[in-house]
Amino acid sequence: MYFYERFCLWLGHLKLSRVIFMVSVLLFIVPLFTHYSLSKYAESGTKTDNPMRYSLEALGDISTKNAADLKMRIEEMLRIRASISTELRELEAKRGRLQVEAAAASTKAESAKAMHLRAAAELQLLRVSADQARLEQLEAIRRDSPQLAPPLQILPSRPPPVLPAIAPTSEVHCRMFSCFDHSRCSLTSGFSVYLYDPDVFVPLAGAEVDGFLKTTLRQTLGYNTHITRNPNEACVYLVIVGESFPFEKTSTSTIDTYKLLLNETAIKNLPFWGGDGRNHILINMARRELSVGSGDAFRGTSIGRAMVAQSTFTHDQFRPGFDIITPPALGPPGGDVWADCAPIAPARRKYLLSFQGSQTPPIGFDKDVDSSLIEILQKMVKSAPATDLFLLQFECDPTVEKRAVQAIGDWALCGTDRSRRAVLRDSTFALILAPADRTYTSTALLQARLYEALRSGAIPVLLGGDRIRLPYEEVLDWRRAVLSLPRARVVELHFLLRALGDADLLALRRQGRVLWERYLSSVQASVDSLLATLRTRLLIPARPAPPTVGVPAFNESYFPPRLEPPAVEAEPEETLGPLEAPYPSPAYRRNYSVALLHGYESWNDWLDPFALYPQLPWDPPVTSEARFMGSDAGFRPLGAGAGGTGKEFSKALGGDRPREQFTIVILTYEREAMLAAALSRLRGLPYLNKVIVVWNGPSSPSAMATWPESGAPVAVVRPSRNSLNNRFLPYNLIETEAVLCVDDDANLRHDEIVFAFRVWREHRDRIVGFPGRYHAWDLNFNNGFLYNANYSCELSMVLTGAAFIHRYYMWAYWRTLPAAIRDHVDEYLNCEDIAMNFLVSHITRKPPVKVTSRWTFRCPGCPVKLSQDETHLLERNKCIQFFSQVMGYTPLLSTQYRADSVLFKTRISHDKQKCFKFI
Ligand SMILES: *[C@@H]1O[C@H](CO)[C@@H](O)[C@H](O)[C@H]1NC(C)=O
Ligand SMILES: *[C@@H]1O[C@H](CO)[C@@H](O)[C@H](O)[C@H]1NC(C)=O
Ligand SMILES: *[C@@H]1O[C@H](CO)[C@@H](O)[C@H](O)[C@H]1NC(C)=O
Ligand SMILES: *[C@@H]1O[C@H](CO)[C@@H](O)[C@H](O)[C@H]1NC(C)=O
Repeated sequence: MYFYERFCLWLGHLKLSRVIFMVSVLLFIVPLFTHYSLSKYAESGTKTDNPMRYSLEALGDISTKNAADLKMRIEEMLRIRASISTELRELEAKRGRLQVEAAAASTKAESAKAMHLRAAAELQLLRVSADQARLEQLEAIRRDSPQLAPPLQILPSRPPPVLPAIAPTSEVHCRMFSCFDHSRCSLTSGFSVYLYDPDVFVPLAGAEVDGFLKTTLRQTLGYNTHITRNPNEACVYLVIVGESFPFEKTSTSTIDTYKLLLNETAIKNLPFWGGDGRNHILINMARRELSVGSGDAFRGTSIGRAMVAQSTFTHDQFRPGFDIITPPALGPPGGDVWADCAPIAPARRKYLLSFQGSQTPPIGFDKDVDSSLIEILQKMVKSAPATDLFLLQFECDPTVEKRAVQAIGDWALCGTDRSRRAVLRDSTFALILAPADRTYTSTALLQARLYEALRSGAIPVLLGGDRIRLPYEEVLDWRRAVLSLPRARVVELHFLLRALGDADLLALRRQGRVLWERYLSSVQASVDSLLATLRTRLLIPARPAPPTVGVPAFNESYFPPRLEPPAVEAEPEETLGPLEAPYPSPAYRRNYSVALLHGYESWNDWLDPFALYPQLPWDPPVTSEARFMGSDAGFRPLGAGAGGTGKEFSKALGGDRPREQFTIVILTYEREAMLAAALSRLRGLPYLNKVIVVWNGPSSPSAMATWPESGAPVAVVRPSRNSLNNRFLPYNLIETEAVLCVDDDANLRHDEIVFAFRVWREHRDRIVGFPGRYHAWDLNFNNGFLYNANYSCELSMVLTGAAFIHRYYMWAYWRTLPAAIRDHVDEYLNCEDIAMNFLVSHITRKPPVKVTSRWTFRCPGCPVKLSQDETHLLERNKCIQFFSQVMGYTPLLSTQYRADSVLFKTRISHDKQKCFKFI
């Protein structure tokens, strides 16, 4: 018994493969040995020194009698030999069989070994996942400050109570703290705005509000998300005054020559005036008056505690931080405005500086109030070298009406809109002269000049700018778009204009165009900006940007039969990260701090202060040590903070951001097999939150009989129409910041995806992905860029067929990009990826990030006709050229940089693992 156990133990110690080896050795040796000895035995009959022979010779004496016996013996022996050789053959055959069996067993052992390895990897994965889950649980238990619940919306429920009016003399001292009722505008109120119906409440005496303005304002305000129909819950009340028409001649000897007939009684009788006009905004948008000069609607009238939004203000009348300077209503009601603009390049245009205007000195002023200034400017033109062309014209056609211009020494616009535009499009700089009357801080005419200059890409040079205020200047940084100089600088003007380099000129012009398009261009843009300025001032967060409601094709209770995928080609036996429960990225955590910390950027760089987003690519990280001192929630540092290589790396995300996951958005069109393969490839992919299949085809998703198991929740959405733009719809189903956009035929490996995800976490505002492309100058026609897909050491686009982007850009694609670009994508069924690259580079002024050495992803077997390929390329050339035309420039930036994991190709000791095995 004891020996038996020992034997078993010994057997147990032996590896299966060793046993097999030994068995096969035995099987091989035994027959060989037998064969050898038997053949020896057979041969021995002829050998002299063989003992058998002696015995036969000895037998010879008695052979005669025993011949028969001998013969019998020999026969016997022959028989034995035959039988032995048969046995031998059998053994031989058996050996062969056993050999085959051994080979089979050894392959079985190999596969068992592989299975064991895979199981070990899976076990490791499960361990890592379990560790993460434990951490998560710990975090949930330890969290002593629960997430702030969504606050109750605190809204006023009654109209403003009637209070005694304030003395007209104190109106000029009104500021937010003294004349604004904050109690109607709680932080959670959402900033409701009530608009008095301009048909019912006419604030002008004996006149109608300008019809066009009235309709346009009412319509555009109707699109604003803050407008409410319930006056009881409103924070502010809007009164459309119109523009300062008509004028009444009251006196010929004072500056107050013309006065708007504001019906004070009508204003004070407004139903929610509350005795003193608290929280009312009187909007006076200049339009027609530009032909006659600047209108100051409210001079000499009492408006109580109401705010004023208009273009013309005197210094003593404008109340900083209270009143708002608006641009004149020159543009269309809304819609795309790019066609009005001039391209940004070249930096230098025909004229260095242009000006066209005429001025009549204001009554009661020195006749030659600006004559010395004009003289200096004319001298500058004369002494300039021939290379610097100026177009300075200080007299217009005398038919221009100059009534109000007379009053304040404003510069009337010369010529027609078209002729002015032609000159401005040819000017590097556009001179804007402050009105002679220094009591003015802004006039409608001056604002109109600013508007026209920015529209045509002439950089405004505001002479006398130190006393001029520009529209929405409490939120807009005009220094990045306008050269604002004191009048005294006129002698140095030429020098200064020449001192600016091309890059600065282009940056000023680009920023001017961006601000113009976003905040001034149309009536919609200006009223939205007006309300957003006031909301920003009150620190009330914007309304959330509405997501696209994607209706899943399959509901919770029904999903077509799932298919276990066929065993895919062996995954690399590498743990890439834990498999976790779906974990949505925390959303709307910065409702009240985005405006505080990033108010400047959101107005001047990101260009969307109009909406609140669940997360932004620019949300700040916590500082390094804070991750270990109180702010550790969600962080997964490598080696718990000690760092490390492959082993620690594969367990945790690390980095400066808390843990997160990503969503995959797959756009598919009538390629079920391809989609099924793409989905089944995703099994076991770490950090995957959800897969969203955007089903673009005419057939129904239920036509697909079975759906492969992908390991993560799959939502299939069917957009209302077939469009490539659907790839970037900001679906409410997306719950993570990181979105991996993939084509159904993009064949990405898991390690590549996880690596790209990790890189994206460090470049959250950029496109991070695989297929690199670039824009190459068209050397034949010298007229714009061509699309190029060849290998290159410089790239400027990463295609969204396989790239990570921030969820924010899906909103930006619909809200910031001009509609003409999306229409072009629909028309040609192409180029949505180029459009996304244009958008991101436009907002960030940074190139995309390319990861790993992979350059292209198309499945090798997919047939693509050459002609198809050619038209595709031609279309993409057209896209680049058209998009550049719409945006005024090509925002793409080039990069020579590619991201590989840190220890890629680094020699490290054997006991250490790299970050990834293959990349
Ligand atoms: C922030 O705003 C979002 C969107 O309006 C809202 O859902 C969320 O509850 C708000 N959170 C806080 C803490 O106010
Ligand atoms: C001013 O408004 C009041 C009240 O709405 C109205 O009765 C009056 O006729 C208006 N005056 C003029 C001159 O329009
Ligand atoms: C879910 O979808 C199936 C098939 O489309 C349908 O029969 C079922 O009524 C749906 N269930 C619910 C709860 O909507
Ligand atoms: C790409 O490279 C090929 C081969 O070098 C060349 O023939 C082709 O013109 C290139 N395509 C473009 C768009 O530059």
